Amino acid sequence: MIYLDNSATTKPFPEVIEVVRRVMESYYGNPSSLHQKGVEAEQVLKQARQITAEALRVKPGEVVFTSGGTESNNTAIKGVAMQYRSRGKHIITTQVEHPAVYDVCKQLEECGFAVTYLPADGDGRISVEELKQAIRPDTILVSVMHVNNELGTIQPIEEIGSYLKQFPKILFHVDAVQSFGKVPLSMTDWGIDLLSISGHKLHGPRGVGVLAKREGLKIHPLLAGGGQEGGVRSGTENLPAIAGLAKAIRMVQEKQEQTVQMLAQMTAQLRQGIEAIPGCVINTPANGAAPHILNFSVPGVKAEVLLHALEEGGFLVSTRSACSSKQNEPSRVLMATGMGRERALSAIRVSVGCDNHPDEAGRFVEVLREALQRIRPYMNV
Ligand SMILES: Cc1ncc(COP(=O)(O)O)c(C=O)c1O
Repeated sequence: MIYLDNSATTKPFPEVIEVVRRVMESYYGNPSSLHQKGVEAEQVLKQARQITAEALRVKPGEVVFTSGGTESNNTAIKGVAMQYRSRGKHIITTQVEHPAVYDVCKQLEECGFAVTYLPADGDGRISVEELKQAIRPDTILVSVMHVNNELGTIQPIEEIGSYLKQFPKILFHVDAVQSFGKVPLSMTDWGIDLLSISGHKLHGPRGVGVLAKREGLKIHPLLAGGGQEGGVRSGTENLPAIAGLAKAIRMVQEKQEQTVQMLAQMTAQLRQGIEAIPGCVINTPANGAAPHILNFSVPGVKAEVLLHALEEGGFLVSTRSACSSKQNEPSRVLMATGMGRERALSAIRVSVGCDNHPDEAGRFVEVLREALQRIRPYMNV
């Protein structure tokens, strides 16, 4: 089986598994304990924080370890909303966010906040002009994802960040879960106040992530308790996962240049091959998309049927974002691009990773062609 679902999750690096095992076995102390085992564990935590901070080019004190992308997004958005609600209750986000941002904003609307959901164009990209126009005197937060998890579209984060620098009271949160290690990113230069990352999207363990938070920025903690992670995220630190995450972050960064080149080559080959199959349309924009995601549709063919036919041919892909793949409705994100229901319902997401080989692209296209020949007679298309 060839795994082409790396946006849903990635296979952990063997070195990461080894670090997790070693920390579980040898560094089981609580980093808050004062005895030797606690001090040793605290050292591991400190080292992981240092590695993570270096990779993000932030200070160690700006790194908050969480349980993953969902928690980082919730902590950032709800934390800002609760902390600054007396200043204003307006939030700007987009119609194409992951549910870990979109549904958080929906929850906040129920609590009296006003949210502007910026529309996207046919490529899934928002307009910076529209964002500028959406700003109000009571705006406290702008939350925009870096790379879209369904389409791969890159949002103009640098441009948004540099515009927002003139509004010091509007905080800027970026969900970088799909972008870290794939697309250039600079939290400090781009004026990002809060940035979310997830371990399992970068060959690290599941259930661990980072919320990078600009130094001195106060947010209301989602979890109250022992005051770990600078008081932003209470709870005894998941040290094996944190150490594994740091290992993955370092490895991804070391391999970044060569990986990105390979991913881009493979998605370009996939694009070329799929485009040439009659009835197939590519949904991922040709320019301004991350190197690892290629989304396409075969209007009239149900995505789930095609997914299983591809699986029979030895390839594992997604119909949409993993967390909503069991719903029958077309993807909110794809519908926001205006592509129409039929095309959205037939969308397949192929996402490649560093374990893939560009040769697999040609084989995938062959299998897709054969699968469509088998399916089409039964689909009335
Ligand atoms: C863009 C984006 N944000 C957030 C998440 C949630 O991350 P996690 O699974 O670590 O909670 C995902 C996962 O699919 C994602 O793709």
